[in-house]
Amino acid sequence: MDAFIIAFYGLCGYLVHLMIVKALGISASPRADGNSDILLRQALAGAAAAGANVEYVRLCDLNIAACIECDLCRKTGRCELEDDYQPLLAKMLGASRLIFATPIFFMTVPAQAKVLIDRCQCLWAHKYVLKKPLITAGSDRRAMVIAVGGSKSTRMFEPVRMTMKYYLDVLDMNYTANLFVNNIERLGQIKKHPSAIKEAFRLGKELIAADPPPPTEPVDVELFSTPDKS
Ligand SMILES: Cc1cc2nc3c(=O)[nH]c(=O)nc-3n(C[C@H](O)[C@H](O)[C@H](O)COP(=O)(O)O)c2cc1C
Repeated sequence: MDAFIIAFYGLCGYLVHLMIVKALGISASPRADGNSDILLRQALAGAAAAGANVEYVRLCDLNIAACIECDLCRKTGRCELEDDYQPLLAKMLGASRLIFATPIFFMTVPAQAKVLIDRCQCLWAHKYVLKKPLITAGSDRRAMVIAVGGSKSTRMFEPVRMTMKYYLDVLDMNYTANLFVNNIERLGQIKKHPSAIKEAFRLGKELIAADPPPPTEPVDVELFSTPDKS
């Protein structure tokens, strides 16, 4: 009888473990405690408060080479370069929520982010050349993007939006929200922006807690100070 009870509770625990949402946070800032990184950790705290099992990854800690356009993935659906991309890919596919945080460099994402995104060409080949399903159909996968720029431009977020749209598409993730903040440049300056901190936490929580279906277009939270149109 005891063995039965232990097995029963063990099974229940396993089922609960399967039901816990996994949220992966990817930080593209090259500086430790960068502004986007601080917002990412707030968003992950929000996700954890909603019950998610969260994991944080800093791209600067990883060794990911740039895509060499060998096109082997068009035949196999797999990237043949062996480096830290493969374990990160497993994490991206294993998580059902993704929070991607990036600074703006020259009007778009920094090299660290672009290298990762380009390596996802193998997912594009898998999905659109080989026409193989990546993720079980009907899986509820959602992602949000955080981007921080130093200038007062509002247009610098458009390239990020476009790149992230295609990156999240190959990952079979619904693009559900953006948090864009401009006019933040000095290290840690975002800590003096309480609405950004608050919105990051709220959006991270909502990413986990919001009922399906996710929105068809991302919800934008744009915290722009004295916007100019450059
Ligand atoms: C190489 C480089 C390029 C940058 N390019 C831009 C830019 O095009 N537009 C902008 O508003 N800020 C630009 N910035 C400023 C950063 O976006 C800003 O400092 C931001 O807060 C950095 O975020 P982080 O602390 O998360 O890394 C640039 C900074 C660097 C180092």
